Amino acid sequence: MRCALVSSSLDIRGYLGAEIARIADRVEIVDHRRNGSDADIGLAVAWHPPDDAFDRYPNLKAVCSLGAGVDNIVACPSLRPDIDVVRIVDPVQAQMMSGFVIWHVLSHQRRFATYLAQQRDAVWQRIRQRSAQDVPVGLLGYGEIGQRVAADLAQLGFPVMAWSRTSKPTSATVRGFHGASGLSAMLGETEVLVNLLPLTPETQGILNAELFARMRRGGYLIQVGRGEHLVDADLVAALESGQLDGAALDVFTAEPLAPEHPFWHHPNIVVTPHDACEVRVEAVATTIVATADAIRNGRRPPNAIDRQRGY
Ligand code: NDP
Ligand code: OXD
Repeated sequence: MRCALVSSSLDIRGYLGAEIARIADRVEIVDHRRNGSDADIGLAVAWHPPDDAFDRYPNLKAVCSLGAGVDNIVACPSLRPDIDVVRIVDPVQAQMMSGFVIWHVLSHQRRFATYLAQQRDAVWQRIRQRSAQDVPVGLLGYGEIGQRVAADLAQLGFPVMAWSRTSKPTSATVRGFHGASGLSAMLGETEVLVNLLPLTPETQGILNAELFARMRRGGYLIQVGRGEHLVDADLVAALESGQLDGAALDVFTAEPLAPEHPFWHHPNIVVTPHDACEVRVEAVATTIVATADAIRNGRRPPNAIDRQRGY
């Protein structure tokens, strides 16, 4: 099966590196905009594809994302509705995401920023410490990554709540919430809010003033979903009013974050450059091969999203 690499922002061939030779007996990787007919392309790997990218592939059956998120692919105007979009589902990625979230939850709970400031000024000042049991964490999104994050936080003793689109059973360690009333109920008890939602028309702009106002005062935001979930000005206002105490932001509406963006120098914001986890190139190659095999056998590829839902 021939597979085209399609990106306006990334050298996918360089990224795949030696994996291209490793999978060559199953999938032939070709560059987008090569010469000759494109009718024999059944599969593509894409990241931020140009608007007209898929017009030249009349027999395209599936597009693999380079990440867990597919928003940049489903937004492409030339992606026909019958084309499957396949995302990365990798337990190692979920584990890394969990580590990132735990880092910031602990940093908030144990007041790491205050100690750093004290050390800068050689101040010996003990600070009242709270146990994990006193810091309830609410997750927006309880999918592949959210479930791993929830389990790990619960293991550390944090009360964990998780909000999803469909109802999920409450377990001994994680309380499940869904729907609008479920979100309100969860936010009312949440001190640390972790955004692990996919970007869809329903979730765009969800991290806004009205949502922050429903959290416990002095809360903390960990934003690892997509930049477009957050209304930037509303976050700054919530930090300035004290409704939120701080935020760790890994994703932004425009990436890289512009040098003049106020987030860079805000004393209560930690910025990381979309680095909450590393997508393993081996996981991408395995996904490409599994997708090609499924197409060959007339099956739906594993980890294909629901195009209606958008995730
Ligand atoms: P999943 O598709 O496995 O899970 C998505 C979760 O969000 C599900 O629980 C789903 O509910 C819930 N959800 C979706 N829409 C809504 C809605 N309208 N209302 C309430 N809940 C909703 O995704 P993953 O866990 O694999 O990844 C989540 C996102 O994390 C990715 O889409 C990506 O944007 C981001 N990400 C960021 C990374 C980074 O480096 N910063 C790395 C990896 C991922 P239900 O269970 O009912 O379907
Ligand atoms: C992803 C990402 O979606 O890296 O996997 O953001």
